[in-house]
Amino acid sequence: MNRVQNFKLILWTIIGVGAAVAAARFIFGLGATTNLSDAVPWGLWIGFDVMSGVALAGGGFVITATVYIFKLDKYHGIVRPAVLTALLGYVAVAVGLLFDLGLPWNIWHMIIFWNPHSPLFEVGWCVMLYLTVLLLEFFPVPAAEFGWLSTIRNFLIKLRMPLVIAGIALSTLHQSSLGSLFLVMPFNVHPLWYSPIMPIMFFVSAIGLGLMMVSFESRFTSYLYRKEAETELLAKLGNAAKWIFLLYLLMRFGDLFLRGQIGHIFAGGWQVKMFWVEIAISAAIPLILLSIKRVRTTGAWQWVISIMAITGIVLNRINVGGMVHLNRGDTFYLPAWTEITITATVVAGAALVFLFMVERFNVWEVRPVDPKADPSTLPEFDYASQASLGRPLIAARTKYSLAFVFAAAFGFMLLSNQSLSSEGVIAASVEEARGGDTLWVDGDLDGYGVSFQHQMHIDKNGNETSCVQCHHMNLPLDENTGCYACHRDMYIPTDAFGHDWHSSPHGGNLSCFKCHQEDQHKNAETAQQCDHCHDNLYPAGATIKVDNYHAPGYVDALHELCIGCHVKLIEETGSPDIARCANCHNDQRDVVEAVDGTKENILIGNVALP
Ligand code: HEC
Ligand code: HEC
Ligand code: HEC
Ligand code: HEC
Ligand code: HEC
Ligand code: HEC
Repeated sequence: MNRVQNFKLILWTIIGVGAAVAAARFIFGLGATTNLSDAVPWGLWIGFDVMSGVALAGGGFVITATVYIFKLDKYHGIVRPAVLTALLGYVAVAVGLLFDLGLPWNIWHMIIFWNPHSPLFEVGWCVMLYLTVLLLEFFPVPAAEFGWLSTIRNFLIKLRMPLVIAGIALSTLHQSSLGSLFLVMPFNVHPLWYSPIMPIMFFVSAIGLGLMMVSFESRFTSYLYRKEAETELLAKLGNAAKWIFLLYLLMRFGDLFLRGQIGHIFAGGWQVKMFWVEIAISAAIPLILLSIKRVRTTGAWQWVISIMAITGIVLNRINVGGMVHLNRGDTFYLPAWTEITITATVVAGAALVFLFMVERFNVWEVRPVDPKADPSTLPEFDYASQASLGRPLIAARTKYSLAFVFAAAFGFMLLSNQSLSSEGVIAASVEEARGGDTLWVDGDLDGYGVSFQHQMHIDKNGNETSCVQCHHMNLPLDENTGCYACHRDMYIPTDAFGHDWHSSPHGGNLSCFKCHQEDQHKNAETAQQCDHCHDNLYPAGATIKVDNYHAPGYVDALHELCIGCHVKLIEETGSPDIARCANCHNDQRDVVEAVDGTKENILIGNVALP
């Protein structure tokens, strides 16, 4: 057996297991095959397949720009593999998305139902358009083999310049719009990653990743097909990549510094460790290694550097795409084995197509041959199985098919050991999204909040009857409405009634006289009571009485409620600790923020603090 066949056998095995899992995914749904939940809706598939698929494709636009726009002809030999990688990267994105979407068959909706305000809309369109451009850019390569396609091929070659430019524009837009996507969730992404210039950092790191990916592929195919590696060219690529990594590092740290978040890099917590690992392998160590000429020109080091940088930047995408969203509350997420399998399958599928393309068409300057599959060699006898496997090409295909079928059977076996009913999973994830036992109370979604043991408070304060002690007012058609719905501003009172809204045609559309008598003064006393039209606005037994509709600021409302009751507990427990700031603000960062007074001009309700 040779390297190519062994490698392909592994890929087919992965795809076999993946096929079984894919069937389960589409029959039983996401709940049964992933560890995703309403609290963690984006996991490995988005983080790896989509985010990294796009980034891996960065080489496509970098190399086409270098060769066709900047006319650096020495890189001409790697244009085709770079475009092919980009194409496959984007196909992987599309396939990954199909797995991740709850209703994948609606994926075309975006083409017809436009929502131009959504960053996802831009992302979606860029993916579709760039995928098309890449297809057209790459098409001449396979078309060269078929005479009857030559007219189309010549036309596309003439069209090359506009295509290249469109490709660069689209992928520039798109690499960065993936970053913009996360701009809308400042409270979700950890401050070490969240930055207003995230789109630009995504773009820069995608260039670095693209270069490293080209380098890795070139080394890997040379190894597989035992052909001579393009060490010198790759050293030149490495030299260019060095500057990109330097720029990227300067941006990351400069940005942290300018935003005043630099202190976080020395704070504790797993996110910080993750940050350092990511920085080290995605840019810092590759930068150092690439700066040394002897290292950059050595084949073995080229392996190490490209693998390291690829892992690092992919880790960055996974972090931004999901991992570091888990820094709030107690949620945690580890991808299920099924998720990992699908991801591996997408990668394996892309790798197989890549190998097929390089063997079949002139992707590299010289077309590599799988020595064993060369149809001109003689039939072979397999000593291990005591059977003739036929001609080498047929033998190879037999082996791949067997690997696929056995692996799929194995996949079904693994799946049958697992409960595929999604009801329990869904119930649990709804529970978790509603906050489960512990809520993260954070009115302004700035990340500084208070962990509040909701269930424990319900138990301590008398179970079902306790709700109204805190949930003293509801919105129409709701129960136990979240406090933020009325206490809408952090510090200043807001209107919870909406007088003008009720009579406006765009709102309640009620005539004045639904609430005010025709021959009386219009004021609070004479107006119709709210419960004339709404039930359950003021739940029975609520202890906080509402007599005007100006809901105090969020912090005041919560401090008054929480501290008010805790002050009463001092007598019971005999210790004032329960009403101290640190009892609630027990996260290191919050105590520092709240007590050291960076936000000192904050009112602490009307409560006298001990
Ligand atoms: C000690 C006070 C307290 C008690 C008692 C209490 N809650 Fe809550 N509840 C809260 C707070 C605080 C929040 C979250 C803060 C916010 O919504 O801004 C909340 C949130 C909720 C939410 C999520 C609302 C949303 O839209 O996000 C639900 C549902 C809920 N509570 C139901 C209940 C039920 C049912 C009970 C009684 C069995 C109960 N709560 C008792 C304080 C309390
Ligand atoms: C449907 C709207 C609404 C919701 C939901 C709501 N509140 Fe209020 N709340 C008000 C209004 C309006 C007032 C003003 C009452 C007054 O002064 O007449 C108020 C007053 C208060 C007060 C008294 C503050 C003061 O200074 O008088 C506290 C404490 C309070 N809310 C806590 C909460 C908490 C905690 C929650 C969530 C568990 C909550 N509220 C949910 C509308 C709401
Ligand atoms: C949904 C019931 C409702 C409708 C409809 C309604 N009002 Fe009112 N109105 C009230 C209530 C309740 C108050 C008491 C205000 C408060 O405390 O916020 C009020 C107060 C007023 C006041 C006294 C304001 C003050 O500062 O004391 C005037 C004037 C008034 N309404 C005029 C109108 C007019 C004019 C319309 C029709 C365009 C109208 N209202 C429609 C319920 C209503
Ligand atoms: C004459 C009937 C009537 C009276 C009286 C009335 N409302 Fe409403 N209210 C409505 C209607 C109709 C809607 C819109 C439909 C719905 O959401 O139920 C509405 C909606 C609301 C909403 C939701 C607004 C939104 O943005 O969705 C709130 C909050 C509300 N009312 C509060 C009050 C309060 C507080 C009072 C008492 C001061 C009151 N309403 C009195 C008819 C009334
Ligand atoms: C109705 C009374 C009441 C209200 C309102 C209340 N608490 Fe408590 N809280 C308690 C009681 C009772 C305990 C349990 C004390 C004990 O036995 O340890 C407690 C304990 C706690 C603890 C300590 C838990 C532990 O295990 O150390 C925290 C933190 C806390 N509350 C936060 C809050 C926050 C935040 C709010 C407002 C959203 C709040 N509480 C509102 C009654 C209340
Ligand atoms: C019984 C619990 C409790 C105690 C005791 C308490 N707080 Fe709070 N505090 C809260 C809750 C709940 C919030 C709302 C959290 C949020 O929305 O971010 C809050 C919010 C705040 C905020 C605003 C945070 C932000 O996100 O902007 C500050 C500042 C603050 N508290 C300071 C203090 C100080 C100072 C003390 C002691 C004097 C104190 N708190 C005591 C529960 C408490």
